[in-house]
Parts: sequence; C-alpha cells; structure tokens
Amino acid sequence: MSMVVILLGPPGVGKGTQAVRLADSMGGEHVSTGDLLRAARRDGTELGKKSKELMDAGELVPDDLILDLVRDHLKGVAPEASILFDGFPRTTAQADGLDRVLEEAGRRVDKVVLFEAPDEELTKRLSGRRSCMECAAVFNVSFKDSEVDGICDRCGGPLIHRVDDEPETVMRRLEVYQSQTAPLVSHYENHDAKMARVSADQPADDVYRAFRTALGLDWA
Ligand code: AP5
Repeated sequence: MSMVVILLGPPGVGKGTQAVRLADSMGGEHVSTGDLLRAARRDGTELGKKSKELMDAGELVPDDLILDLVRDHLKGVAPEASILFDGFPRTTAQADGLDRVLEEAGRRVDKVVLFEAPDEELTKRLSGRRSCMECAAVFNVSFKDSEVDGICDRCGGPLIHRVDDEPETVMRRLEVYQSQTAPLVSHYENHDAKMARVSADQPADDVYRAFRTALGLDWA
C-alpha cells in the first residue's frame, strides 16, 4: 500500500527515529528537510550557506527555500513510492505548498501523525543525542548508544552531537515549534488527511507499535 504520511511533532520527539524504522521496514522514502539541509551545508551549496546561521540559531529556514528543496527532491522519488515527511511541513504556508506539489503529481497527504511528549523529556533526549553524518540514524548516550562509541551501527558513519542540540538552542527550537509549527495541529484537524495522535513518551518500540497502528499497518 503506497501512502503519503507527515510525521508532526516537536524537536526531539522521535520523528526521525520512527521514520527511519518504518522506511527500513516498508521501503518507503524518508524525506527529512533537516537532513536535506544538513547535506546542503556539507556540500557547500548556496542553500546550505543561506541556512547555516538560521539552523544553528534554532530558527526556521524561509518557506520558499524549503518548498523549492522539497519539490526538487521529489523529482527523484518514484511516483508510486510511499513518502514519510519528517520535519516538514513546519508552517501553514509549507503545508499549503505541499498540497500543491502533491496535487501536481496526482497525490495527496493520506495521514498526519502527531507525536507528543513533555518538554523536559525532549530536552533530555536532545542533550544525549548523537546523529550519524552519513545516514539519518540517531542514537542516544542515555537511552540507546551505538555499539562502538562514535560510530553508526546502521552505516558505519561518524556520529556527532548537533550544534543546535545545545541547551539554549533547544529552548529556542521549542519556542519556534510552539509559535510556528503547532498551529499545524488545528490545520490538519480540519484537513482531508486524517490526523492521529501518538504518545512518544514511552519506549521507542512502543511508539513504533502505536505509529504502525495509527497508519493501519500490522505489527512487524
Ligand atoms: P530537524 O533536523 O528537522 O530537527 P527537528 O524537527 O527539530 O527534529 P529533531 O531531528 O531534533 O528530532 P526528532 O523528532 O527527529 O527526534 P529523533 O528521532 O532524532 O531541523 C533542524 C533545523 O533545520 C530546524 O531548526 C530549522 O532551522 C531547519 N529546518 C528543517 N526543516 C525545516 C522546515 N521544514 N522549515 C524550516 N526550517 C527547517 O530523537 C531524538 C533523540 O531521542 C535521539 O537521541 C533518539 O535516540 C532519542 N529517542 C527517540 N525516541 C525515543 C524514545 N521513545 N525514548 C527515548 N529516547 C528516544
């Protein structure tokens, strides 16, 4: 079954963790705008240069740049592939833009899953997070460390602590989420796509189980 899914929720709630696991299991395309922007920075592109300061400060990158990035990226995605959007859309302008891009391709958002956890838990998770520079895998020195210190279990790439995971920037990212992204909850409650809420304040395996159930998928 092919579907377009949006993983919505605050920084550190586990969107990337769940998207990678589901994409590995069902072969869908994981589209993380955060990962695409970090790749643009590594490649030294114009977009990467424009985004660096904003990302390091915990601010959002402008909607027009993000929509161009997503539109370009989707050109390389098979028309029938399932797509898991992670960290996108983040504003109502991006959500409207996504509807237009999908409509041009004869597709639409099938499901929005909102992941929720208290701010204290998010802060704790981000302070211990280690992110792979090569693939989208994440680990955590407090909850789930990699088998070899500093090396990704999934692809062997180097693990880093993201600059924007420093405590002051995490606080700003949480504020930005509340002011600019949280309005998407009521936006999607009034949208044709069905929105489901999943508690992410439980072990990752239990979150994954609830996520699959929300999508109408069997446990695997
Ligand atoms: P982005 O990279 O998208 O960051 P984010 O949305 O803030 O999300 P995170 O990656 O921080 O968290 P996550 O929910 O994926 O959690 P994870 O699975 O890693 O964006 C970064 C920046 O790019 C933005 O600030 C902005 O500047 C820019 N940007 C990106 N997209 C944009 C857009 N659309 N528009 C404008 N600007 C944009 O998990 C976190 C940690 O918790 C990990 O260590 C993990 O191992 C652990 N963990 C996960 N689940 C559990 C669990 N159940 N229990 C215990 N630990 C867990």
